[in-house]
Amino acid sequence: MSFKPVVLWTALMSLAIASCNNQSQETAAPADTATPEAAVNVYSARHYAVDDDLFASFTEQTGIQVNVIEGKSDELIERIKAEGDASPADVFITVDAGRLWRAEEAGILQAVSSPVLDEKVPASLRHPDGLWYGLTKRARVLVYNTDTVAPAELSTYEALAEPAWNGRICVRSSGNIYNQSLLGSFIETVGVEATETWATGLVNNFARDPDGGDVNQIQAVAAGQCDVAIVNHYYWARLAKSDDPENQEIIAQTAVFFPNQADRGTHVNISGVGVVTGAENRESAIAFLEFLVSPEAQQVFANSNNEYPVIEDIDIDPVVAELGEFKFDEVNVSAYGRNNPEVVKLVDRVGWK
Ligand SMILES: [Fe+2]
Repeated sequence: MSFKPVVLWTALMSLAIASCNNQSQETAAPADTATPEAAVNVYSARHYAVDDDLFASFTEQTGIQVNVIEGKSDELIERIKAEGDASPADVFITVDAGRLWRAEEAGILQAVSSPVLDEKVPASLRHPDGLWYGLTKRARVLVYNTDTVAPAELSTYEALAEPAWNGRICVRSSGNIYNQSLLGSFIETVGVEATETWATGLVNNFARDPDGGDVNQIQAVAAGQCDVAIVNHYYWARLAKSDDPENQEIIAQTAVFFPNQADRGTHVNISGVGVVTGAENRESAIAFLEFLVSPEAQQVFANSNNEYPVIEDIDIDPVVAELGEFKFDEVNVSAYGRNNPEVVKLVDRVGWK
């Protein structure tokens, strides 16, 4: 088997790797010099095979080894906390700004500044103090049944709370971070009271109790159990690319609508990355973050999970491109987490299960 720069490793093995392979650690330059260390340790809650290829490409270009531990977001945060000063983690990657906020709250991220990151990542898609940066963008869209809904009937998230939609809406549970972040953006824009009024109307219009994930909501729309679902765009794109005749039927029966195009834009979320507090390989970590927003890396992200790149001039996936261009809500995504405690109370009050 050929040499594979990206390895999954246990905490114990990482120590062995660091002491055997990494000469620069022994003659370590001060952390604030520009000399890159020879390794970067990444804790990632993104699970895509292409990420490994991408990290290998970073190693080829820079000589910096990338070591990856994959896990669930909350578990990785707990792990970094538990490891404390001894944690080998330099970089934390996760999906959803709400989860980045959890990392922020846990104190595991440090502020970094980089002209490259500031220039490439739009201001609304990164933490205002540089605790984390968006890598990819996903839109929370409406998927509707093309037999029962005309696109002209659709406009905004807000309109879905109106009586015309009674018994016609499907959306997953409020325990899911995607919905919590949508509500967090609402609170940031219109305040708690108006958000609560909206959520009350929306819950009243549910076709059924929340059940399953975003794909299940799309299936329910196609099956006529509801007319409109609120879901992340890439789930629809994934079904559209499937050869399975059942999925093809679902796609033939449904279409995607970007809400709020006449006002603030469609709600977007990110997968994102931050440098871990006390990172031994801080300079390598920043170089790694800069690589992740390079055209090469952004192109790989755009092609892999049907997401949108955060930088401009990248060819997006053809199926996603067919959905059309859209205006996205430029409220800073860091608001989602900040408003999350209020959201959790609010969904309880309005009975969104
Ligand atoms: Fe997802």
